[in-house]
Amino acid sequence: MHALELDLPSPASVSLVVGSLAVGLIIGWRYIRLHPFGKPSKAVKESESVKQREWGQWDPVLFPYPPINASPNPMDLKPIPYRPFRWGAYHVTMGIREMPWDEWMELDDRMTAYFYIKKHRIATRGINAIRILPDRHDDNVQVKSASQSAIELVHELAQYVNKRYPEAFSVSCDAESGFISHITIVPVNHTFQLPSPLLAKGSLVLRNVSLEEGEEALKIAVLLVQDDLALMVEGTDGRYYFQGGFWRLQDKIGLSLEEIHVEGNVPQYEKRLQVGMNRHFQRMSVDKPVIRNNYSIQVVPPEHVRLPGTELSSLDPILDDDRLFDPEEISWSSYANGPEDTFPHGNRYPVVSEKPELIVVSPENLRMRSERQTLRRLPLTGAIVFAIRTYTFRLQDLATEPGVPARMASAIRSWPMDVRKYKGAKVYEKAVLEYLDRAAEKQLQEGGEQMANDRGNKYPY
Ligand SMILES: *[C@@H]1O[C@H](CO)[C@@H](O)[C@H](O)[C@H]1NC(C)=O
Ligand SMILES: *[C@@H]1O[C@H](CO)[C@@H](O)[C@H](O)[C@H]1NC(C)=O
Ligand SMILES: *[C@@H]1O[C@H](CO)[C@@H](O)[C@H](O)[C@H]1NC(C)=O
Repeated sequence: MHALELDLPSPASVSLVVGSLAVGLIIGWRYIRLHPFGKPSKAVKESESVKQREWGQWDPVLFPYPPINASPNPMDLKPIPYRPFRWGAYHVTMGIREMPWDEWMELDDRMTAYFYIKKHRIATRGINAIRILPDRHDDNVQVKSASQSAIELVHELAQYVNKRYPEAFSVSCDAESGFISHITIVPVNHTFQLPSPLLAKGSLVLRNVSLEEGEEALKIAVLLVQDDLALMVEGTDGRYYFQGGFWRLQDKIGLSLEEIHVEGNVPQYEKRLQVGMNRHFQRMSVDKPVIRNNYSIQVVPPEHVRLPGTELSSLDPILDDDRLFDPEEISWSSYANGPEDTFPHGNRYPVVSEKPELIVVSPENLRMRSERQTLRRLPLTGAIVFAIRTYTFRLQDLATEPGVPARMASAIRSWPMDVRKYKGAKVYEKAVLEYLDRAAEKQLQEGGEQMANDRGNKYPY
């Protein structure tokens, strides 16, 4: 249901990005460039190496993930209550901020539910959910497979989650190489054996990786975290191609960033986003990951239709009913969009007349769906990891928070026509606005202007 959408930076985040550029240049001097056949050369300024690069070429750099502060046990944490909407005019922008290194992946007490939802999806949807494409050789473009990147990614993630969430993961390391060989997700008591790392000891040459091995690595990577993952690989034409990942794949796999957005009918993409977004991907260096949030409204099945939800440990798709694993439709909104396999890309919310039954829109069925998206370039293979964590929050809960209903109603009212269409607003906006307005009015009565128009929280909260 999510798409690879980024918008251009808003004024506030531009200064952040510019500020971090200066820091990046300084840190850049510390990179050690690896040469395929030799010893590490002397430090090379990252900004130069980016400019000198031929499209599709990437020289591995040594970039140890910066120190990470341990988080409390995620099983004791509630999902972070993102409220990523603003008062007043809506701008189509990339809206990116610098990503704090501690916060690459967010885990919380939903981690076991996401684990089983994903396991079920992998088992039942196969290459429509998880896949890595082989090298592509066209007349126009060559793009490498993401199989090496998947190996790099699973090792990066295993090291990261082990340091960030020490109470939820335990690892054992290979005595000789020091790399993680096994990782256990403690709350589900599941242990994975990791593939051997890309770099053998004493070697500076990345080893070859088969598609099958890459896909196995990707499966593990996906199950370690709550995010969906996309590996974007630069082609010889300078474009970024979706060469592998775990997501709704059938409408996106193999496409370039441009194609994904154009076919997804992303509002104002060509006018406002395309150039800046491509440039951002091309220039992205390993030391400057970014983050953005967005939101929409989702209508979920009414309570009496919803199944209770289950957490099963078997990988077998015994119960081929997504609703049993995913009653709140985190992975696919079949209640509002119809079956995943027949949903046409870029045509959100089929017109109501095409739907077999009417969608029931009541406050109890309404969710604010928010995506937290991060972009990070992997140092050895140069692929960009696009990670998408989906949160859903009950509208009824949001409506009780100081200032939130009035702010959300203001944000929804400011969506331009194209954005309304894109977000499928027709189905729910009347019900949502009526509900939020009533909640805002109640806050005004009970807490006064100060409560109803509370602006205390900093974006994206
Ligand atoms: C965890 O799983 C292992 C087998 O993989 C089993 O031997 C062990 O008893 C389990 N531990 C718990 C606490 O369930
Ligand atoms: C990887 O495979 C290619 C082509 O099969 C081969 O030329 C190359 O030497 C291999 N590289 C390594 C590190 O094994
Ligand atoms: C996030 O981004 C785009 C809009 O920019 C949208 O297509 C995607 O579905 C969004 N997700 C949510 C939950 O709004």
